[in-house]
Amino acid sequence: MEPGEKVLSDVHLYHTCECLSTKESNSVTRFVIKLQSSDTDEIGDNAVSADQDSVDNTGHREVITETQHIPSCLEVDEDGDLILQRDGNSFNSEDTAVITLEHSLATELQDVGEQVWAGALLLCDFLLHHETDFCQKSVLDLGAGTGLTTIVAAMLAKTVYCTDVGESVLRMAHHNVEINADLTSNCHVVVRELDWCKGLHVQGKGNFRLSEVDITDILQAEVIIAADVIYDDDLTDALFKTIHLLLSKGPPKTVYMGLEKRLVFTLSDLDVVCPAYTHFYEGLVRLQQLGCEGRQFHYFRLDEDLPMYLNYNRTKQLEIWAIQSVIPNG
Ligand SMILES: C[S@@+](CC[C@H](N)C(=O)[O-])C[C@H]1O[C@@H](n2cnc3c(N)ncnc32)[C@H](O)[C@@H]1O
Repeated sequence: MEPGEKVLSDVHLYHTCECLSTKESNSVTRFVIKLQSSDTDEIGDNAVSADQDSVDNTGHREVITETQHIPSCLEVDEDGDLILQRDGNSFNSEDTAVITLEHSLATELQDVGEQVWAGALLLCDFLLHHETDFCQKSVLDLGAGTGLTTIVAAMLAKTVYCTDVGESVLRMAHHNVEINADLTSNCHVVVRELDWCKGLHVQGKGNFRLSEVDITDILQAEVIIAADVIYDDDLTDALFKTIHLLLSKGPPKTVYMGLEKRLVFTLSDLDVVCPAYTHFYEGLVRLQQLGCEGRQFHYFRLDEDLPMYLNYNRTKQLEIWAIQSVIPNG
């Protein structure tokens, strides 16, 4: 890329959200979550074998508009009706939740975290669809960007560590967590700097400083989420090193990664290729082979054919992968 050139997430090209206003150079968007009817699957039932790479997703998903199913972590009264909170961002009478998010529409590559990416929307759908698996869990969000996945995870979990690198994106995530606090009142959300290139060491400054105590807490997380973090091979390598460290310590845990396979045509290949994805896949294989003392790591692709809780263009390039640490006979 040329210096100063901007990258643009296509999330806002589709009718995902409504741009309300702009603050400085940022936009504010309301992401509407439909609490809808669905048969919640066990995550394991959804696994797609890793070598079934070309699962036939048509790219077309029907938006289900019924509203019978409510994530079990959300409050309901004795008749099973959702307890509606009518102020701020809370649920409205159509059983929707609204997340208000400040973000950029276009940035230079080093600030991509200030935009919202489609992998985050798929990961949010996944979290909401499997809400019982995340209820009361301790979650770590890697490369959280604007904090959308953190906020959705915090609607379900007990604790969420929202991490990224750089003051500006961390400030944005923190602001977004604060303005959506009424949706996440049962969760303790902590925003911290965690640079994969620095590993699990004390880092960052001010309010976002990652302390020894934070590192101890992070190692206790049972669930790790990361959306749209596969786009640069060196960063992917650093991310895998961090994931290896995290999976090697604390309780057995699962990493869920939402990603968009970005296709490019290259003259050298005379074909459409996806080098960042290929590098990611090689990293998965290496991680599984490596394991660590007393633990095995397994990766698998999950079935992305989920109901849509958020409104976006779910293409067949959007995928969810999981990596699990297992203690044999543990
Ligand atoms: C494409 S954005 C995705 C943001 C958000 N997860 C989403 O899907 O909307 C990639 C994210 O990875 C973060 N990132 C890049 N390098 C990183 C590093 N070395 N350590 C931690 N996070 C990093 C970026 O700051 C950015 O937030």
